[in-house]
Amino acid sequence: MNTMTDDLKKTEPKTPPVTVGQETYEKHDQSKSDVRACITVDHYDFFYGKTQAIYDAHFVMPEKQVTAIIGPSGCGKSTLIRNINRMNELVDGVSHTGDIRIYSQSIYDPQLEVTELRKRIGMVFQKSNPFPKSIYENVIYSLRVSGQNRKSILDEVCEMSLKASALWDEVKDRLHQSAMSLSGGQMQRLCIARAIANRPEILLMDEPCSALDPIATAKIEELIYELKKDFTIVIVTHNMQQAARVSDMTAFFYMGNLVEFGETKKMFMSPEKKQTEEYITGRFG
Ligand SMILES: Nc1ncnc2c1ncn2[C@@H]1O[C@H](COP(=O)(O)OP(=O)(O)OP(=O)(O)O)[C@@H](O)[C@H]1O
Ligand SMILES: [Mg+2]
Repeated sequence: MNTMTDDLKKTEPKTPPVTVGQETYEKHDQSKSDVRACITVDHYDFFYGKTQAIYDAHFVMPEKQVTAIIGPSGCGKSTLIRNINRMNELVDGVSHTGDIRIYSQSIYDPQLEVTELRKRIGMVFQKSNPFPKSIYENVIYSLRVSGQNRKSILDEVCEMSLKASALWDEVKDRLHQSAMSLSGGQMQRLCIARAIANRPEILLMDEPCSALDPIATAKIEELIYELKKDFTIVIVTHNMQQAARVSDMTAFFYMGNLVEFGETKKMFMSPEKKQTEEYITGRFG
C-alpha cells in the first residue's frame, strides 16, 4: 500500500541531511544509531497574511518515536502540526519559507499530490469528530473514498484498526451502530482507528486528550505507546506530565520560536534554557 513511501526511501538521500542545531538531539542520535529522521523542519517560517506565526523552526523528528510539541497558548503548536500535512493551506493568505520534509521529500514538492501526502499522514484533533455513520463506516471511510468496496478487505481493516486503537473489545458486537452512541474517550479512539486505517506513516495528534477524563486519557496514552511501534507520532499537549510520559523527544515553542528541542527525559530533568524550565515547572504559560 505504501509504494510511494518505499520509492521515497529508496531514493534517499536526495537532499543533504540537515544539521540539527541542538546538541541534545545529536547525543540522542548517536546513542541510537538506528534512529532515522522522519520529519525534518528546515528553517521554517510561516505567515498568516503578514502575521508571522513560526520563526525559523529547525529540528528533526525521529522515525517511530513520539515527539511532543509543547508551549503556551498561541505559540504556534497547531500551526506547525497542521503544516506537516499541509492543512493550513486551506486558510486564505498563508505563506511560508524554508521547508518541511518527510524522509527526504519536501512536502511542497510539486510532484507530490496533497491527497497523497495526507494519505501518508493521519491526523487526530482535540475534539473527536466521528462522522454521523456507523462505527464500521467511520473506520473504513478512507478506503471507501479510494474506491475499495471488497467486504473481506474492509472487514479486515476495520478489525485491525479497532484492535490497534484498543477499541475492538468494546465495540465488536455493535459495529453497525452509530458512532454517535460512543463515549467521548471511545469516539477519540475511533478517530485514531480511522486515522490509521489506511496505514499512514505519521500520526499527528493535536491535544487528543484535552476533552477526556483521566481514565480515557490513560487509555490513549497506552495506545500511543503501542502505536509508535508502527508510526511516527507528533503530539501537541498542554499537559506536561503527558508529554513526559508519552514522548521520546520534546520541542518547546514560545511565541513562534523553537526555544529548545531534545530528548524528553533530559529536557524535563535538566533543560538547557531557563525559559523551558519555567514553563515545564508551571511558572509561566
Ligand atoms: N487561521 C488563522 N488566521 C490567522 N491567524 C491565526 C490562524 N490560526 C492561528 N493564528 C495565529 O497564529 C498564532 C499561533 O496559533 P496556534 O493555533 O498555532 O497556537 P497554539 O500553540 O496551537 O495555541 P493553543 O495552545 O491555544 O491551541 C496565534 O497568534 C494565532 O492567533
Ligand atoms: Mg492549538
